[in-house]
Amino acid sequence: MTNLPSLHEKAGYVNRMFADIAPRYDLMNRLMTGGQDMRWRVELIKLCDLPPHGKLLDVGTGTGDIAYEALRQHPSVTAIGCDFTFEMMAVGQGKSRRAPVYFAQGDGLRLPFPDHTFDAVTSGFLLRNVVDIDAALSEQRRVTKPGGRVICLETTPPSQTLSGPLVRFHMFRVIPLLGRIISPRGNAYQYLPQSTTVFPEPKEMARKMERAGLKHVFYRKKMLGTVAIHVGTA
Ligand SMILES: C[S@@+](CC[C@H](N)C(=O)[O-])C[C@H]1O[C@@H](n2cnc3c(N)ncnc32)[C@H](O)[C@@H]1O
Repeated sequence: MTNLPSLHEKAGYVNRMFADIAPRYDLMNRLMTGGQDMRWRVELIKLCDLPPHGKLLDVGTGTGDIAYEALRQHPSVTAIGCDFTFEMMAVGQGKSRRAPVYFAQGDGLRLPFPDHTFDAVTSGFLLRNVVDIDAALSEQRRVTKPGGRVICLETTPPSQTLSGPLVRFHMFRVIPLLGRIISPRGNAYQYLPQSTTVFPEPKEMARKMERAGLKHVFYRKKMLGTVAIHVGTA
């Protein structure tokens, strides 16, 4: 088992890990979730309530799948994807023939955008990787226009319910095995399940969103409760 990096090492570790796995990242996502991840992104964008010609920011955008989904559903919006790993965005560049996603390199803990810029701010599987979830949520709220939505798609820690053993088998056996076969840096797929176990439960995440100043907070659980879409209004 790979040990989780210390807080001090985490940002560098995460950045190098995603740079290494970037070429196989999309394929691994499809395989790990049986293609469900694309459905969650569709639902997430529907929840954004984007106005025509609105502006969307996707933080920790990786290869840009959430931002591309926004353009698919709302061709008139401007979609910006921000990430601190250049290699992930390079894979995402030009993935669709529709309007482009504008990629910007930046840290989710210090977003390079003025206050109240976006109609909606999204993130997918970002928060588990940052050193300070509260600071990341505050930043997302800061750059969202009042009344706009902040939406985070995240894994949830495996529960003690009946599905728990099945979920743990998938997370700790199947995913690392797939990672070793598919990806040049297979041990990344040991880090990913482990980081899920220390991530807050959905109820605690809802409290964090409220503490970040978001209102009307709610969440929807997906795939046996292993994933949740968290929604708040700035
Ligand atoms: C698991 S990937 C998710 C990619 C994409 N959002 C998706 O749904 O597939 C997490 C991404 O978050 C990025 N990331 C992690 N910490 C970050 C930070 N502090 N600032 C910006 N990006 C960060 C990583 O570089 C990586 O591309």
